[in-house]
Amino acid sequence: AIATVSGNFRLTGEGASSDIRHIVLDFGQAAFPVLEGQTIGILPPGADAQGRPHHPRLYSVASPREGERPRYNNVALTVKRVTEDHEGRPVAGVASNFLCDLAKGATVNVIGPFGTSFLMPNHPGSNLLMICTGTGSAPMRAMTERRRRRIALKEGGELMLFFGARAPEELPYFGPLMKLPRDFIDINLAFSRVPGQPKQYVQDLIRARGDDVFRLLAGEHCFVYVCGLKGMEEGVTEA
Ligand code: A2P
Repeated sequence: AIATVSGNFRLTGEGASSDIRHIVLDFGQAAFPVLEGQTIGILPPGADAQGRPHHPRLYSVASPREGERPRYNNVALTVKRVTEDHEGRPVAGVASNFLCDLAKGATVNVIGPFGTSFLMPNHPGSNLLMICTGTGSAPMRAMTERRRRRIALKEGGELMLFFGARAPEELPYFGPLMKLPRDFIDINLAFSRVPGQPKQYVQDLIRARGDDVFRLLAGEHCFVYVCGLKGMEEGVTEA
């Protein structure tokens, strides 16, 4: 499908080391149904050094199924501008730079949606345990927003979030997240690089909140979602 950019907003603070953006894509008249937890593929224009078209890159949808705004035929993505690899060597970041530089009204070639396993349970009373770092928060935002829009239905089900970032200004959606009612979502933020504070990872907070995590896990209807840095998987599993 061809989507049109209807918004591109920076999420990270002025002093932040990363440029993370909230990008809204509108599908106009085209049918492009997605579910929370699915990904879509972005086809960057142009070709690589060998003249071959760029590979599509997958991004998690950050908005709920009925759209970033209800009844709009759109999806939101959370995109971090990639400029270097984990060792600090410069890399092209073809798709992320293409997306982060998009102006309102620009068009994007999209394929998908993809994903059949990272989906929300149909049972609305089920509990969701969400563990993420950085832009891994995109699917968690989609699921949380899905539940928030249905709050009045009183379907039940607890939400517990563990979210890791270097500092508050690096944490996408920090403002809106902190405005959510405490009885709607149990939020646990782990910051690793706040001066004067001990380094914290999500797995440290999972341990600290062990009793409540255990209570959720022991329940019949608990679903666990982990998204973000590959490296956290081991620590989270151990915790
Ligand atoms: P760190 O400050 O040690 O890099 P990033 O900003 O690079 O996307 O990382 C998001 C958060 O995940 C950072 O707070 C980062 O901490 C943290 N992190 C790095 N490695 C791990 C790990 N093995 N387990 C959990 N969190 C991690």
